[in-house]
Amino acid sequence: MKKDLLSIADLNRKEVKGLVERAHRMKEEGMTDLLSGKTLALLFEKPSLRTRVSFEMAMHQLGGHSIYLSPAEVGLGKRESTADVARVLSRYVDGIAARTFSHETLRVLAENCSVPVINALSDMEHPCQALADLLTIYEKKGKLSGLTLGFIGDGNNVSNSLLLSASLVGMDFHFACPPGYEIEKKVLNKGRKFAALSGSQIRITNDPYEAAKGADIVYTDVWVSMGQEADAEKRRRAFANYQVDSELLGLAKKDVLFMHPLPAHHGEEISAGLLEDPRSVVFDQAENRLHLQKALLAKLLSDSKVPGK
Ligand code: CP
Ligand code: NVA
Repeated sequence: MKKDLLSIADLNRKEVKGLVERAHRMKEEGMTDLLSGKTLALLFEKPSLRTRVSFEMAMHQLGGHSIYLSPAEVGLGKRESTADVARVLSRYVDGIAARTFSHETLRVLAENCSVPVINALSDMEHPCQALADLLTIYEKKGKLSGLTLGFIGDGNNVSNSLLLSASLVGMDFHFACPPGYEIEKKVLNKGRKFAALSGSQIRITNDPYEAAKGADIVYTDVWVSMGQEADAEKRRRAFANYQVDSELLGLAKKDVLFMHPLPAHHGEEISAGLLEDPRSVVFDQAENRLHLQKALLAKLLSDSKVPGK
């Protein structure tokens, strides 16, 4: 595996499956001392509940330690250049999980760090979320390939990482958004290359019904991501007909999984009460962030590289 995980495209199909399977096994293990003596810095420019807590708990359960660094403390690129922060932190810690506004900040961090850098969400991708989502799908459906994921919503960090993950593992990806909110060409082209190898199909439409129809998984995310607050009203208007509700889920397969990375805005991208729908697996998704990140940290930070792990 590469030193850093900035994008799902940093992984190949075998590595993705390996992480999902290892996370599935680690779920049973509880506490270990695999990362005893290791420290992970959590360098965050944006708020977080799941990502911060699951990374801190993952380090704890692996016998290691974590340090949370808030934007107020570090001032990445403001108080000190990103490259200098990277070079200093590399002298203290064994890995960095960073949540940034710009993906470019992550790239500069990784380039200047001698220790692994993990993308804990940027404007371009949310790979830890997508990998944990694959774990949830694998647990519920017993497989990853041969399924269809219908994403209704924004061409954003979450949908970018899901498109790349699905196309790597052979899952069809049907995406519906309002005109002007599509997945970026660069990401789509990468996804299409992966899909050509795995045999999965990518379909893009403006019709939410088309994306939900016959799907094994219906997925949505917020209409206004962190950092897009200035466009909130415009976005709410554009996405008004893209709410996922019980009726839309009814177009999918009977045993459909409803997924959302959370935080959710009830009455916006989901109808009120949808998280409590029996088809919803959103809290399993949230839990699996912990297990997947344990597998990822074990892989990237562990000195004792056991063959095949
Ligand atoms: N899903 C997710 O990343 O949640 P947080 O923003 O709370 O970390
Ligand atoms: N797209 C959302 C995901 C939050 C986990 C955001 O970037 O705010």
